[in-house]
Amino acid sequence: MTESITIALSKGRILDETLPLLKEAGIELVDDVNKSRKLVFPTTDPNVRVLILRATDVPTYVQYGGADLGVTGKDVLMEHGGEGLYEPLDLNISRCRLMTAGKKDTKSPEGRLRVATKFVNLARQYYAAQGRQADIIKLYGAMELAPILGLADEIVDIVDTGNTLKANGLEARELIEYISSRLVVNRASMKMKHAGINPIIEMMSAAVEKRRTLE
Ligand code: ATP
Ligand code: PRP
Repeated sequence: MTESITIALSKGRILDETLPLLKEAGIELVDDVNKSRKLVFPTTDPNVRVLILRATDVPTYVQYGGADLGVTGKDVLMEHGGEGLYEPLDLNISRCRLMTAGKKDTKSPEGRLRVATKFVNLARQYYAAQGRQADIIKLYGAMELAPILGLADEIVDIVDTGNTLKANGLEARELIEYISSRLVVNRASMKMKHAGINPIIEMMSAAVEKRRTLE
């Protein structure tokens, strides 16, 4: 019997870049995701279905076996911790940098820092590894406002072009990590559904390689 496979995808910008890769791996969504209120989508492969989730929920669904495979950002995986997951493939999409940032032309203060971010675990680990004491303030968005309004000395956030920082009077300080989206696999599924999962990883890997050579 052929096993059924569930893939959890991140909605938004990652989804736009993941769908063409999946297509090259022979998996296409039957419906138009942008015109549907569905959360579970059948695909052209009768054994494969796709969930469309918030990026931050993807590792959790895959960890607990709600999905066998998932696609999400390395930033999200670092914040989650990666428990119960394999990370076999860098998809080389949605590339950006995770950085600290603060008010333009000011220095990071000596001593204890206040840091606003949605990546609280990651920020705590980063400042501890630097030997710096930091009070972490959890925000869910508009991190760039925090230094301007005196809520925090620094933020930890995603930077791509740097336009968002610039538009808000901030500048990048330290690079924490280069980010891209990754394919993750539930550890138990990797063993139990090896025959179904392996070809998907191999085909996606080939699609990523093909693009690299065209870059
Ligand atoms: P949610 O809406 O669920 O809170 P979000 O607003 O962080 O999530 P996106 O902005 O689509 O969702 O970001 C999803 C992922 O895309 C991030 O976790 C990161 O890996 C990557 N990403 C975010 N911003 C950029 C960017 N400007 N350029 C490239 N990749 C980015
Ligand atoms: C992301 C991220 C930064 C911005 C960085 O936000 O949260 O704010 O991109 O990109 P830049 O350096 O090119 O300006 P996004 O545009 O996804 O909006 P969001 O805050 O709704 O996630």
